[in-house]
Amino acid sequence: MATSPSSPATSLTAEPSHGLAGRISVPGDKSISHRALIFGALAVGETRISGLLEGEDVLATAETMRRLGARVTRHEDGTWSVFGVGVGGLSEPAEPLDFGNSGTGARLVMGLVAGHPITATFIGDASLSRRPMGRVINPLTEMGAHFHAREGGRMPLTLTGARQPMPITYRSPVASAQVKSAILLAGLNTPGITTVIEATPTRDHTERMLKAFGAHVALETGKDGALAISLTGEPELTPCPIAVPGDPSSAAFPVVAALLTPGSEVVVEGITLNPHRAGLYTTLMEMGGDIEVMNQREEGGEPVADLRVRSSSLKGIDVPPERAASMIDEYPVLAIAAAFAEGATRMSGIHELRVKESDRIAATASGLRANGIKVHETEDSMTVEGRAGEVSGGGHVATHMDHRIAMSFLVMGLAAQKPVTVDDAAMIATSFPDFVRLMSGLGASFAKQAQ
Ligand code: S3P
Repeated sequence: MATSPSSPATSLTAEPSHGLAGRISVPGDKSISHRALIFGALAVGETRISGLLEGEDVLATAETMRRLGARVTRHEDGTWSVFGVGVGGLSEPAEPLDFGNSGTGARLVMGLVAGHPITATFIGDASLSRRPMGRVINPLTEMGAHFHAREGGRMPLTLTGARQPMPITYRSPVASAQVKSAILLAGLNTPGITTVIEATPTRDHTERMLKAFGAHVALETGKDGALAISLTGEPELTPCPIAVPGDPSSAAFPVVAALLTPGSEVVVEGITLNPHRAGLYTTLMEMGGDIEVMNQREEGGEPVADLRVRSSSLKGIDVPPERAASMIDEYPVLAIAAAFAEGATRMSGIHELRVKESDRIAATASGLRANGIKVHETEDSMTVEGRAGEVSGGGHVATHMDHRIAMSFLVMGLAAQKPVTVDDAAMIATSFPDFVRLMSGLGASFAKQAQ
């Protein structure tokens, strides 16, 4: 019963390019966009959102909020309004909720539904239906929700939320902002205090938005260094205008393309450099990347900056495992940068990559090998042997329904000696629908393959 991707698979080739140049803004941050719609649906009154990412993942969350009773509209100027129903006010959806490719949408909304006495069925595409949901099923069951899931805690699943949700204190066994957020969202319609303890801090957009909408959130660092995030339940959420900043996970592609493509100078404007999201940029600078952070400011409660990027000769480094959470979606494109660096780049503490939209360690490693790069992988690490700028390319890469694998290898093709083809560029629309147009505007060359 899994849905198929909304567009048919289309292969795409990136061709060796020179001198990428220009200024671009990348689309709105995906994590913040999902949360803006969800919090808007829980506030009483109208939440205005500007800069919302209009990618398939976020549009699926918008549709879900409608099915749960909120009114969600897009204005002609590209801003959005959500008319919320209040905490506790969601209605039971008549049809299954379809999250497409989006683990974030599915897991956050499971938290939301778990705190309401309603039943909903969660469906998604083949990639999402393979991903583990036990990580949210377990804590949400402790709070009183009931799940009927496929073998191994997979979707499709049906969830009946708790009639009388119970607050919990939960030490998350995985470093996951989705798990943290699901529990906090369930905690909103729960009396008392719901606490999530994180051994490794993850992106904090949920906590920031809870505060902006008027909820009480307390943070406390324990003796062991773990962070306890405590939410006081049953607040009335007040609408708050949200300006979504540019997505650092999308900006990663033009930034790495500019570093690797000779003769390039590109400015990427207005991306959030929230410290829980900026690990890739720290890493690229340590590798010798010429990245200038300009015009640092705060917008919509998030730190924002522009980046000026010039082509650079990179050197391989060891990426510390404690940095993984702050760049968890960026390892595939970092591996591309590593292939062009001088010496080896070792990435460790990255086992979570095995359960993303694809097994990103396996997909990245086989894509690199198809393009003449030596890679060593273990269950939770990957070491890429850099070729000091001399990457042959010429490979055909299987993307496994993963937008970030597709964009990463297209970036490789721009800087390699021979073109690189990805088997399916359709999934790029989940997070960065304008990728090809924006990159082409900088001078990147792409060619569609005849099927
Ligand atoms: C996200 C959290 C991360 C990240 C995902 C977005 C979020 O997932 O990979 O793309 O918005 O909370 P995990 O929570 O599984 O680490």
